[in-house]
Amino acid sequence: GPFSRHGIGRGRLPFSVVSGEDLAAFERIVPGRVITDPEVLEASNVDWLRMVRGSSVLLLRPRTTEEVSHILRHCHERNLAVNPQGGNTGMVGGSVPVFDEVILSTALMNQVISFHDMSDGPVCPCGCGAPSEAQASVQTLPAQRPQWPQWVLADGMVLNCLSTLRKDNTGYDLKQLFIGSEGTLGVITAVSILCPPKPRAVSVAFLGSLCWKMLGEIVSFLVCSLLWGNQSRLWGQSPFYVLIETSGSRAGHDAEKLNDFLEQVLSSGLVTDGTVATDHLKVKALWALRERISEALSRDGYVYKYDLSLPTERLYDLVTDLRVRLGPRAKHVVGYGHLGDGNLHLNVTSEAFSPSVLGTLEPYVYEWTAEQRGSVSAEHGLGFKKRGVLGYSKPPEALRLMQQLKALLDPKGILNPYKTLPAQA
Ligand code: MLT
Ligand code: ZN
Repeated sequence: GPFSRHGIGRGRLPFSVVSGEDLAAFERIVPGRVITDPEVLEASNVDWLRMVRGSSVLLLRPRTTEEVSHILRHCHERNLAVNPQGGNTGMVGGSVPVFDEVILSTALMNQVISFHDMSDGPVCPCGCGAPSEAQASVQTLPAQRPQWPQWVLADGMVLNCLSTLRKDNTGYDLKQLFIGSEGTLGVITAVSILCPPKPRAVSVAFLGSLCWKMLGEIVSFLVCSLLWGNQSRLWGQSPFYVLIETSGSRAGHDAEKLNDFLEQVLSSGLVTDGTVATDHLKVKALWALRERISEALSRDGYVYKYDLSLPTERLYDLVTDLRVRLGPRAKHVVGYGHLGDGNLHLNVTSEAFSPSVLGTLEPYVYEWTAEQRGSVSAEHGLGFKKRGVLGYSKPPEALRLMQQLKALLDPKGILNPYKTLPAQA
């Protein structure tokens, strides 16, 4: 099971168990949206990578902030643990229950509350988890960053800081505390997002290269070196590939700039082959090569996943190093991610889970990252799987402060227990 595998030997904390009376109370709060059917629950109990599985017997699907507030007030009074769940697309087991936590899904909170043209962005309830639904309805670019959220605290108290102001420096920046808190401090029920208008011209170039370091100086997206499955035909022979997207308002002008760039990198020998697309379907197909890497890896066998922030000049060192260290015990050691951000997704696959492979990877990967003053989680969070390694990236004083903040905001610890912070001794 996941516990022995991830070194978490602790059992279920002493929360209450859902009773018939609880079910009746929830039925009054969210009528018809109290789900106990095991077949429906299955999809919410397991993460999309199918690596972590909980055993919740109850899924609640509120539509409004008020309903979330009533649910949490009840859970708080009854000492019932809660697993807030958005799109369930997490990479570290943070989005599914560990034991029998009540799953509070925001899937039905998916409408755009309001949309202000010009200066302001849309106000979206959090069910627009990946704000794609909001985007589709308002024709904007992918949301840049959440501005101000509304959230519900562990005891049901609603904190409405929703605002479409661009600047507001009154008091502590509370929103920043909640962003990335993985449902352990409160449940975010709505956000306002600033969205730039959708560009009229989009071009994507998919290029093969012999050298990723030089590419890193001119582009800001990704490096990967992987060849397998039915994608290999498309990937060709280059050790590295980079996907570049440009967007702008004048197609002719943008094409000219991109062509200048391509001529330059081709003549310098930096790029060895590639393709360019402006047609919507071909753009999508090229992006799919990048976006489906995770999924392709999970079909390759057992996947050991790391999401590291590293100094750009050392970004790829671990990949080549681990290929040597692991030898034939690994099927693939691949590195991809977000080159411009210094973010490496290091993924290793083996036929089946192997303690010897894990022993070679950990704590080596974490120690090496700490030595570079990198981060052991650049973007995926800590969730359930990585909660034990927070100390590689933050000093003990910071950990203690985080624990104090958690105790202040969620004194009973009912919100997404077993996640984010290391288990307390
Ligand atoms: C990505 O960049 O594709 C995501 O962060 C997920 C992953 O680790 O593959
Ligand atoms: Zn990523």
